[in-house]
Amino acid sequence: MDYKLIELGVHGDKNGLLTALEEGNPLSFPVRRAYYIWGTARDAVRGCHAHHRCHEMIICLSGSCDFLLDDGKTKETIHMDSPTKGLDVPPLIWRQFTNFSPDCIVLVLASAMYDRGDYIEDYEEFKKISHP
Ligand code: TYD
Repeated sequence: MDYKLIELGVHGDKNGLLTALEEGNPLSFPVRRAYYIWGTARDAVRGCHAHHRCHEMIICLSGSCDFLLDDGKTKETIHMDSPTKGLDVPPLIWRQFTNFSPDCIVLVLASAMYDRGDYIEDYEEFKKISHP
């Protein structure tokens, strides 16, 4: 599958830690939008869509959760539990987020402005589009 799990660089000194994200390293796209998901119940299921065009970098800044990624043929579940892991998710990957810890905060950096027309929310339609 075409996603990338990236080990993000950490700058550390006696004052603590810092991770920087910029276009080219490790972001493979210019960021047009950021949002974060938090205050989520453990049994919540979020996502459940793919994008036609939007590319995203997803980072679990605090706590943990599971990301199910699916390209229409293969499914993989990735446990995200560190702000040093970045998940680069290109378009046409179905995603579902579950198993949120109470302190989970997920940051998403996106290549496009919010556009509901870019969402594919029907799984059967997604399968047809991803593997015509
Ligand atoms: P939604 O995409 O349903 O969240 P999730 O896929 O995590 O379950 O979005 C929840 C609400 O937030 C919905 O009313 C749309 C709104 N929203 C924005 O206004 N801008 C955004 O960039 C995003 C991602 C969502």
